[in-house]
Amino acid sequence: MKRYLVTGGAGFIGSNFILHLLHGEHCARVVNVDALTYAGNLENLRSVEDDPRYAFYQADIRDPEAMSAIIEAEQPDYVVNFAAESHVDRSIEDPGIFESTNVGGTVNLLNVCRAAWEQADGGYGEHRYLQVSTDEVYGTLSLDEPDSFFIERTPLSPHSPYSASKASADLFVGAYGDTFGMPVLITRCSNNYGPYQFPEKLIPLMIHNACHHEALPVYGDGLNVRDWLFVEDHCAAIDLVLREGRIGEVYNVGGHNERANIDIVETIIRLVGERLDDPEINSSLITFVEDRKGHDRRYGIDASKIAAELGWRPETPFEAGIEKTIDWYLSHPSWVEHVTSGAYQDYYEKMYGHRGAAAEA
Ligand code: NAD
Ligand code: TYD
Repeated sequence: MKRYLVTGGAGFIGSNFILHLLHGEHCARVVNVDALTYAGNLENLRSVEDDPRYAFYQADIRDPEAMSAIIEAEQPDYVVNFAAESHVDRSIEDPGIFESTNVGGTVNLLNVCRAAWEQADGGYGEHRYLQVSTDEVYGTLSLDEPDSFFIERTPLSPHSPYSASKASADLFVGAYGDTFGMPVLITRCSNNYGPYQFPEKLIPLMIHNACHHEALPVYGDGLNVRDWLFVEDHCAAIDLVLREGRIGEVYNVGGHNERANIDIVETIIRLVGERLDDPEINSSLITFVEDRKGHDRRYGIDASKIAAELGWRPETPFEAGIEKTIDWYLSHPSWVEHVTSGAYQDYYEKMYGHRGAAAEA
Protein backbone atom coordinates (compact mmCIF):
# COMPACT_ATOMS: atom_id res chain seq x y z
CA MET A 1 0.00 0.00 0.00
CA LYS A 2 1.60 3.23 -1.15
CA ARG A 3 1.13 6.91 -0.46
CA TYR A 4 0.94 9.05 -3.62
CA LEU A 5 1.43 12.77 -4.04
CA VAL A 6 -0.06 13.91 -7.35
CA THR A 7 0.63 17.42 -8.61
CA GLY A 8 -1.81 18.93 -11.10
CA GLY A 9 -4.46 16.52 -9.86
CA ALA A 10 -7.31 18.93 -10.58
CA GLY A 11 -6.46 18.94 -14.30
CA PHE A 12 -7.58 16.57 -17.02
CA ILE A 13 -5.17 13.62 -16.73
CA GLY A 14 -4.31 14.20 -13.06
CA SER A 15 -7.94 13.97 -11.94
CA ASN A 16 -8.48 10.84 -14.03
CA PHE A 17 -5.34 9.40 -12.40
CA ILE A 18 -6.62 10.14 -8.88
CA LEU A 19 -9.98 8.51 -9.69
CA HIS A 20 -8.08 5.53 -11.12
CA LEU A 21 -5.98 5.17 -7.95
CA LEU A 22 -8.93 5.45 -5.59
CA HIS A 23 -10.88 2.84 -7.56
CA GLY A 24 -7.93 0.45 -7.16
CA GLU A 25 -6.75 -1.28 -4.04
CA HIS A 26 -3.04 -0.64 -3.63
CA CYS A 27 -3.25 3.02 -2.71
CA ALA A 28 -3.15 4.01 0.95
CA ARG A 29 -3.39 7.76 0.36
CA VAL A 30 -3.59 10.24 -2.54
CA VAL A 31 -2.59 13.82 -1.90
CA ASN A 32 -3.60 16.21 -4.65
CA VAL A 33 -1.50 19.39 -4.91
CA ASP A 34 -2.77 21.90 -7.44
CA ALA A 35 -2.51 25.67 -7.87
CA LEU A 36 -5.99 25.70 -9.50
CA THR A 37 -5.16 27.64 -12.63
CA TYR A 38 -7.82 28.01 -15.33
CA ALA A 39 -7.23 24.30 -16.14
CA GLY A 40 -7.70 22.95 -12.61
CA ASN A 41 -11.23 22.00 -11.68
CA LEU A 42 -11.99 20.34 -8.35
CA GLU A 43 -15.47 19.42 -9.57
CA ASN A 44 -13.72 16.53 -11.36
CA LEU A 45 -13.02 14.98 -7.95
CA ARG A 46 -16.39 15.47 -6.30
CA SER A 47 -16.96 11.71 -6.13
CA VAL A 48 -13.87 11.19 -3.93
CA GLU A 49 -14.02 14.33 -1.76
CA ASP A 50 -15.18 12.25 1.21
CA ASP A 51 -12.79 9.35 0.72
CA PRO A 52 -10.56 9.35 3.85
CA ARG A 53 -7.59 8.36 1.66
CA TYR A 54 -7.87 11.62 -0.34
CA ALA A 55 -6.57 15.09 0.56
CA PHE A 56 -6.27 18.33 -1.39
CA TYR A 57 -3.80 21.19 -0.94
CA GLN A 58 -3.90 24.35 -3.02
CA ALA A 59 -0.22 25.08 -3.65
CA ASP A 60 2.14 26.01 -6.46
CA ILE A 61 4.84 23.51 -7.45
CA ARG A 62 7.20 26.48 -7.77
CA ASP A 63 6.86 27.28 -4.06
CA PRO A 64 9.69 25.58 -2.09
CA GLU A 65 8.25 26.23 1.39
CA ALA A 66 4.74 25.08 0.55
CA MET A 67 5.92 21.95 -1.26
CA SER A 68 8.40 21.02 1.51
CA ALA A 69 5.71 21.43 4.16
CA ILE A 70 3.26 19.20 2.27
CA ILE A 71 5.86 16.49 1.71
CA GLU A 72 6.90 16.68 5.36
CA ALA A 73 3.27 16.41 6.51
CA GLU A 74 2.16 13.70 4.10
CA GLN A 75 5.32 11.57 3.70
CA PRO A 76 4.48 10.28 0.20
CA ASP A 77 6.24 7.20 -1.20
CA TYR A 78 5.64 8.40 -4.75
CA VAL A 79 5.48 11.85 -6.34
CA VAL A 80 3.84 12.06 -9.78
CA ASN A 81 4.22 15.42 -11.50
CA PHE A 82 1.35 16.27 -13.85
CA ALA A 83 1.30 19.98 -12.97
CA ALA A 84 2.05 22.03 -16.05
CA GLU A 85 0.84 24.57 -18.51
CA SER A 86 -0.30 22.16 -21.21
CA HIS A 87 -1.74 23.97 -24.22
CA VAL A 88 0.50 24.61 -27.24
CA ASP A 89 -1.53 27.59 -28.51
CA ARG A 90 -1.20 29.35 -25.14
CA SER A 91 2.57 28.70 -25.21
CA ILE A 92 2.78 30.56 -28.51
CA GLU A 93 0.90 33.51 -26.97
CA ASP A 94 2.82 33.55 -23.66
CA PRO A 95 5.94 31.34 -23.48
CA GLY A 96 7.18 32.71 -20.13
CA ILE A 97 4.67 30.95 -17.88
CA PHE A 98 5.58 27.67 -19.60
CA GLU A 99 9.22 28.12 -18.70
CA SER A 100 8.32 29.14 -15.17
CA THR A 101 5.82 26.36 -14.34
CA ASN A 102 7.05 23.49 -16.47
CA VAL A 103 10.79 23.96 -15.99
CA GLY A 104 11.09 25.97 -12.75
CA GLY A 105 8.27 24.04 -11.08
CA THR A 106 9.84 20.69 -11.96
CA VAL A 107 13.28 21.73 -10.70
CA ASN A 108 11.74 22.96 -7.46
CA LEU A 109 9.87 19.71 -7.00
CA LEU A 110 13.04 17.70 -7.60
CA ASN A 111 14.90 19.79 -5.03
CA VAL A 112 12.16 19.37 -2.45
CA CYS A 113 11.93 15.59 -3.00
CA ARG A 114 15.68 15.23 -2.83
CA ALA A 115 15.88 17.17 0.44
CA ALA A 116 13.09 15.09 1.97
CA TRP A 117 14.18 11.67 0.70
CA GLU A 118 17.98 11.50 0.47
CA GLN A 119 19.45 9.31 3.20
CA ALA A 120 22.88 9.57 4.85
CA ASP A 121 24.26 6.83 2.55
CA GLY A 122 22.99 8.66 -0.56
CA GLY A 123 20.12 6.20 -1.07
CA TYR A 124 16.43 7.10 -1.37
CA GLY A 125 14.71 4.02 0.07
CA GLU A 126 11.57 3.02 -1.78
CA HIS A 127 10.71 6.54 -2.96
CA ARG A 128 10.04 7.32 -6.60
CA TYR A 129 9.53 10.49 -8.63
CA LEU A 130 7.68 10.20 -11.94
CA GLN A 131 7.61 12.99 -14.49
CA VAL A 132 4.63 12.95 -16.87
CA SER A 133 6.05 14.12 -20.18
CA THR A 134 4.92 14.13 -23.78
CA ASP A 135 5.81 12.73 -27.20
CA GLU A 136 6.01 16.37 -28.35
CA VAL A 137 9.56 16.57 -26.94
CA TYR A 138 10.73 14.42 -29.87
CA GLY A 139 9.63 17.01 -32.44
CA THR A 140 7.85 15.88 -35.56
CA LEU A 141 7.63 12.90 -37.90
CA SER A 142 6.95 13.03 -41.60
CA LEU A 143 3.71 11.97 -43.30
CA ASP A 144 5.90 10.42 -46.03
CA GLU A 145 7.40 7.83 -43.71
CA PRO A 146 4.42 6.26 -41.95
CA ASP A 147 6.62 3.43 -40.64
CA SER A 148 8.87 5.73 -38.59
CA PHE A 149 8.01 6.22 -34.92
CA PHE A 150 9.37 7.92 -31.82
CA ILE A 151 11.38 5.57 -29.63
CA GLU A 152 12.77 6.45 -26.20
CA ARG A 153 16.19 7.12 -27.73
CA THR A 154 14.89 9.48 -30.43
CA PRO A 155 16.81 12.76 -29.89
CA LEU A 156 14.78 15.54 -28.28
CA SER A 157 13.89 18.19 -30.86
CA PRO A 158 10.99 20.29 -29.58
CA HIS A 159 9.41 23.00 -31.74
CA SER A 160 6.85 24.83 -29.60
CA PRO A 161 7.55 26.75 -26.38
CA TYR A 162 5.36 24.11 -24.67
CA SER A 163 7.37 21.15 -25.93
CA ALA A 164 10.65 23.00 -25.33
CA SER A 165 9.66 23.49 -21.69
CA LYS A 166 8.68 19.83 -21.32
CA ALA A 167 11.93 18.67 -22.95
CA SER A 168 13.91 20.95 -20.66
CA ALA A 169 12.11 19.56 -17.62
CA ASP A 170 12.87 16.00 -18.80
CA LEU A 171 16.56 16.87 -19.04
CA PHE A 172 16.54 18.14 -15.45
CA VAL A 173 14.77 15.01 -14.25
CA GLY A 174 17.38 12.83 -15.97
CA ALA A 175 20.20 14.99 -14.60
CA TYR A 176 18.91 14.65 -11.01
CA GLY A 177 18.90 10.88 -11.53
CA ASP A 178 22.45 10.87 -12.92
CA THR A 179 23.96 13.46 -10.56
CA PHE A 180 22.20 12.84 -7.26
CA GLY A 181 21.11 9.23 -7.79
CA MET A 182 17.47 10.23 -7.45
CA PRO A 183 14.93 7.47 -8.21
CA VAL A 184 13.35 9.13 -11.24
CA LEU A 185 11.16 7.85 -14.07
CA ILE A 186 9.77 9.61 -17.13
CA THR A 187 6.73 8.68 -19.21
CA ARG A 188 6.17 10.25 -22.63
CA CYS A 189 2.67 9.81 -23.91
CA SER A 190 0.76 10.77 -27.00
CA ASN A 191 -2.39 12.94 -27.18
CA ASN A 192 -4.89 11.94 -24.51
CA TYR A 193 -8.66 12.21 -24.83
CA GLY A 194 -11.55 11.38 -22.51
CA PRO A 195 -13.72 12.92 -19.76
CA TYR A 196 -12.71 16.15 -17.97
CA GLN A 197 -10.53 17.58 -20.74
CA PHE A 198 -10.74 21.37 -20.92
CA PRO A 199 -12.58 22.39 -24.11
CA GLU A 200 -9.61 24.23 -25.63
CA LYS A 201 -8.02 20.99 -26.87
CA LEU A 202 -9.10 19.52 -30.21
CA ILE A 203 -11.58 16.81 -29.23
CA PRO A 204 -13.60 18.55 -26.47
CA LEU A 205 -13.54 21.86 -28.38
CA MET A 206 -15.03 20.20 -31.45
CA ILE A 207 -17.69 18.39 -29.39
CA HIS A 208 -18.61 21.66 -27.67
CA ASN A 209 -18.75 23.70 -30.88
CA ALA A 210 -20.67 21.02 -32.80
CA CYS A 211 -23.34 20.92 -30.07
CA HIS A 212 -23.74 24.71 -30.35
CA HIS A 213 -23.66 24.80 -34.18
CA GLU A 214 -20.47 26.87 -33.98
CA ALA A 215 -17.59 26.80 -36.50
CA LEU A 216 -15.13 23.91 -36.13
CA PRO A 217 -11.70 25.55 -36.64
CA VAL A 218 -9.29 23.16 -38.38
CA TYR A 219 -5.71 24.41 -38.56
CA GLY A 220 -3.94 24.39 -41.95
CA ASP A 221 -4.96 21.53 -44.26
CA GLY A 222 -6.27 19.33 -41.43
CA LEU A 223 -3.85 16.54 -42.34
CA ASN A 224 -1.64 16.79 -39.24
CA VAL A 225 -1.60 13.46 -37.47
CA ARG A 226 -1.80 12.72 -33.75
CA ASP A 227 -1.69 9.34 -31.98
CA TRP A 228 -4.78 9.33 -29.72
CA LEU A 229 -4.69 7.55 -26.35
CA PHE A 230 -7.73 7.08 -24.10
CA VAL A 231 -6.94 8.76 -20.77
CA GLU A 232 -7.80 5.71 -18.62
CA ASP A 233 -5.25 3.62 -20.52
CA HIS A 234 -2.67 6.33 -19.89
CA CYS A 235 -3.45 6.36 -16.15
CA ALA A 236 -2.98 2.58 -15.95
CA ALA A 237 0.39 2.93 -17.71
CA ILE A 238 1.63 5.62 -15.31
CA ASP A 239 0.75 3.59 -12.24
CA LEU A 240 2.44 0.52 -13.69
CA VAL A 241 5.62 2.42 -14.52
CA LEU A 242 5.64 3.89 -11.03
CA ARG A 243 5.36 0.54 -9.32
CA GLU A 244 7.28 -1.72 -11.70
CA GLY A 245 9.35 0.43 -14.05
CA ARG A 246 13.13 0.44 -13.91
CA ILE A 247 14.51 3.49 -12.10
CA GLY A 248 16.12 6.02 -14.42
CA GLU A 249 14.22 4.83 -17.49
CA VAL A 250 11.98 6.61 -19.97
CA TYR A 251 8.82 4.82 -21.15
CA ASN A 252 6.83 5.86 -24.22
CA VAL A 253 3.07 5.42 -23.90
CA GLY A 254 1.01 5.51 -27.11
CA GLY A 255 -2.36 4.54 -28.46
CA HIS A 256 -1.31 2.80 -31.74
CA ASN A 257 -3.99 5.03 -33.10
CA GLU A 258 -2.82 7.67 -35.56
CA ARG A 259 -5.49 9.85 -37.11
CA ALA A 260 -5.51 13.01 -39.22
CA ASN A 261 -7.20 15.93 -37.48
CA ILE A 262 -9.82 16.24 -40.20
CA ASP A 263 -10.82 12.59 -39.67
CA ILE A 264 -11.24 13.24 -35.95
CA VAL A 265 -13.44 16.26 -36.66
CA GLU A 266 -15.57 14.33 -39.17
CA THR A 267 -16.01 11.46 -36.71
CA ILE A 268 -17.15 13.90 -34.01
CA ILE A 269 -19.63 15.56 -36.40
CA ARG A 270 -21.11 12.18 -37.31
CA LEU A 271 -21.40 10.87 -33.76
CA VAL A 272 -22.68 14.08 -32.15
CA GLY A 273 -25.15 14.62 -35.03
CA GLU A 274 -26.48 11.06 -34.63
CA ARG A 275 -26.81 11.31 -30.88
CA LEU A 276 -28.60 14.66 -30.93
CA ASP A 277 -30.54 13.66 -34.07
CA ASP A 278 -29.61 17.06 -35.50
CA PRO A 279 -28.98 17.38 -39.27
CA GLU A 280 -27.54 20.86 -38.77
CA ILE A 281 -24.48 19.24 -37.22
CA ASN A 282 -22.74 18.49 -40.48
CA SER A 283 -19.46 19.16 -42.32
CA SER A 284 -20.56 22.67 -43.31
CA LEU A 285 -19.43 23.65 -39.78
CA ILE A 286 -15.80 22.81 -40.66
CA THR A 287 -13.78 26.01 -41.12
CA PHE A 288 -10.17 25.80 -42.25
CA VAL A 289 -8.21 28.50 -40.43
CA GLU A 290 -4.64 29.77 -40.48
CA ASP A 291 -2.16 27.08 -39.46
CA ARG A 292 -0.60 27.01 -35.99
CA LYS A 293 2.94 28.45 -35.96
CA GLY A 294 5.57 25.67 -35.91
CA HIS A 295 2.78 23.08 -36.22
CA ASP A 296 4.26 19.57 -35.86
CA ARG A 297 3.09 17.43 -38.77
CA ARG A 298 2.87 14.00 -37.24
CA TYR A 299 3.34 12.27 -33.87
CA GLY A 300 3.61 8.49 -33.72
CA ILE A 301 4.74 6.52 -30.67
CA ASP A 302 6.54 3.20 -30.58
CA ALA A 303 5.34 1.83 -27.22
CA SER A 304 7.02 -1.57 -27.53
CA LYS A 305 9.34 -1.01 -24.54
CA ILE A 306 6.52 -0.65 -21.99
CA ALA A 307 4.73 -3.59 -23.65
CA ALA A 308 7.79 -5.85 -23.48
CA GLU A 309 8.98 -4.86 -20.00
CA LEU A 310 5.73 -4.22 -18.15
CA GLY A 311 3.06 -5.87 -20.27
CA TRP A 312 1.11 -2.62 -20.83
CA ARG A 313 -0.96 -2.13 -23.97
CA PRO A 314 -3.73 0.38 -24.70
CA GLU A 315 -7.02 -1.42 -24.11
CA THR A 316 -9.56 1.04 -25.49
CA PRO A 317 -10.10 1.01 -29.27
CA PHE A 318 -10.56 4.54 -30.63
CA GLU A 319 -14.13 3.86 -31.77
CA ALA A 320 -15.14 2.87 -28.23
CA GLY A 321 -13.10 5.64 -26.55
CA ILE A 322 -14.47 8.45 -28.71
CA GLU A 323 -18.06 7.27 -28.19
CA LYS A 324 -17.49 7.13 -24.43
CA THR A 325 -15.97 10.60 -24.51
CA ILE A 326 -18.77 12.15 -26.56
CA ASP A 327 -21.41 10.52 -24.36
CA TRP A 328 -19.65 11.89 -21.27
CA TYR A 329 -19.62 15.45 -22.63
CA LEU A 330 -23.23 15.25 -23.78
CA SER A 331 -24.32 14.02 -20.35
CA HIS A 332 -22.30 16.65 -18.42
CA PRO A 333 -23.44 19.99 -19.91
CA SER A 334 -23.08 21.76 -16.57
CA TRP A 335 -19.41 20.69 -16.25
CA VAL A 336 -18.71 22.20 -19.67
CA GLU A 337 -20.73 25.30 -18.87
CA HIS A 338 -18.87 25.79 -15.58
CA VAL A 339 -15.38 25.55 -17.11
CA THR A 340 -16.19 27.72 -20.10
CA SER A 341 -17.99 30.42 -18.07
CA GLY A 342 -15.65 30.34 -15.07
CA ALA A 343 -18.52 29.34 -12.76
CA TYR A 344 -16.46 26.38 -11.53
CA GLN A 345 -14.70 28.91 -9.29
CA ASP A 346 -17.90 29.00 -7.21
CA TYR A 347 -17.21 25.41 -6.23
CA TYR A 348 -13.78 26.25 -4.79
CA GLU A 349 -15.24 29.10 -2.88
CA LYS A 350 -17.92 26.88 -1.39
CA MET A 351 -15.41 24.15 -0.50
CA TYR A 352 -12.39 26.23 0.52
CA GLY A 353 -13.67 29.69 1.29
CA HIS A 354 -11.75 31.42 -1.50
CA ARG A 355 -11.48 31.36 -5.27
CA GLY A 356 -8.73 29.55 -7.24
CA ALA A 357 -5.51 30.96 -8.71
CA ALA A 358 -7.23 31.65 -12.03
CA ALA A 359 -9.73 33.99 -10.37
CA GLU A 360 -7.00 35.69 -8.33
CA ALA A 361 -4.73 36.25 -11.39
P1 NAD B 1 -4.19 20.29 -17.69
O1 NAD B 1 -3.81 21.60 -18.28
O2 NAD B 1 -5.58 19.78 -17.86
O3 NAD B 1 -3.92 20.31 -16.10
C1 NAD B 1 -2.79 20.87 -15.54
C2 NAD B 1 -3.04 21.02 -14.04
O4 NAD B 1 -1.84 21.55 -13.45
C3 NAD B 1 -4.19 21.96 -13.68
O5 NAD B 1 -5.00 21.37 -12.68
C4 NAD B 1 -3.49 23.21 -13.13
O6 NAD B 1 -4.27 23.89 -12.17
C5 NAD B 1 -2.23 22.60 -12.55
N1 NAD B 1 -1.13 23.55 -12.45
C6 NAD B 1 -0.67 24.39 -13.42
N2 NAD B 1 0.36 25.12 -12.95
C7 NAD B 1 0.58 24.71 -11.66
C8 NAD B 1 1.52 25.07 -10.66
N3 NAD B 1 2.45 26.00 -10.87
N4 NAD B 1 1.47 24.41 -9.48
C9 NAD B 1 0.53 23.47 -9.23
N5 NAD B 1 -0.40 23.12 -10.15
C10 NAD B 1 -0.36 23.72 -11.36
O7 NAD B 1 -3.12 19.26 -18.25
P2 NAD B 1 -3.29 17.73 -18.65
O8 NAD B 1 -3.78 17.65 -20.04
O9 NAD B 1 -4.00 17.02 -17.58
O10 NAD B 1 -1.75 17.28 -18.67
C11 NAD B 1 -1.13 16.79 -17.49
C12 NAD B 1 0.33 16.51 -17.80
O11 NAD B 1 0.41 15.57 -18.87
C13 NAD B 1 1.11 17.75 -18.24
O12 NAD B 1 2.37 17.70 -17.64
C14 NAD B 1 1.20 17.60 -19.74
O13 NAD B 1 2.37 18.20 -20.24
C15 NAD B 1 1.24 16.09 -19.90
N6 NAD B 1 0.70 15.59 -21.17
C16 NAD B 1 -0.58 15.86 -21.54
C17 NAD B 1 -1.07 15.34 -22.74
C18 NAD B 1 -2.49 15.56 -23.17
O14 NAD B 1 -2.88 15.07 -24.23
N7 NAD B 1 -3.31 16.25 -22.41
C19 NAD B 1 -0.24 14.57 -23.55
C20 NAD B 1 1.07 14.34 -23.15
C21 NAD B 1 1.52 14.84 -21.94
P1 TYD C 1 -4.32 19.96 -29.37
O1 TYD C 1 -5.54 19.29 -28.85
O2 TYD C 1 -4.09 21.40 -29.06
O3 TYD C 1 -3.09 19.05 -28.91
P2 TYD C 1 -1.51 19.15 -29.36
O4 TYD C 1 -1.27 20.46 -29.96
O5 TYD C 1 -0.84 18.99 -28.05
O6 TYD C 1 -1.30 18.00 -30.29
O7 TYD C 1 -4.32 19.82 -30.95
C1 TYD C 1 -4.38 18.56 -31.58
C2 TYD C 1 -4.27 18.80 -33.08
O8 TYD C 1 -5.44 19.49 -33.53
C3 TYD C 1 -3.10 19.67 -33.46
O9 TYD C 1 -2.57 19.20 -34.71
C4 TYD C 1 -3.70 21.06 -33.66
C5 TYD C 1 -5.09 20.75 -34.14
N1 TYD C 1 -6.14 21.70 -33.76
C6 TYD C 1 -7.00 22.24 -34.72
O10 TYD C 1 -6.90 21.92 -35.93
N2 TYD C 1 -7.97 23.11 -34.32
C7 TYD C 1 -8.11 23.48 -33.02
O11 TYD C 1 -9.01 24.31 -32.70
C8 TYD C 1 -7.23 22.92 -32.04
C9 TYD C 1 -7.34 23.30 -30.58
C10 TYD C 1 -6.26 22.02 -32.44
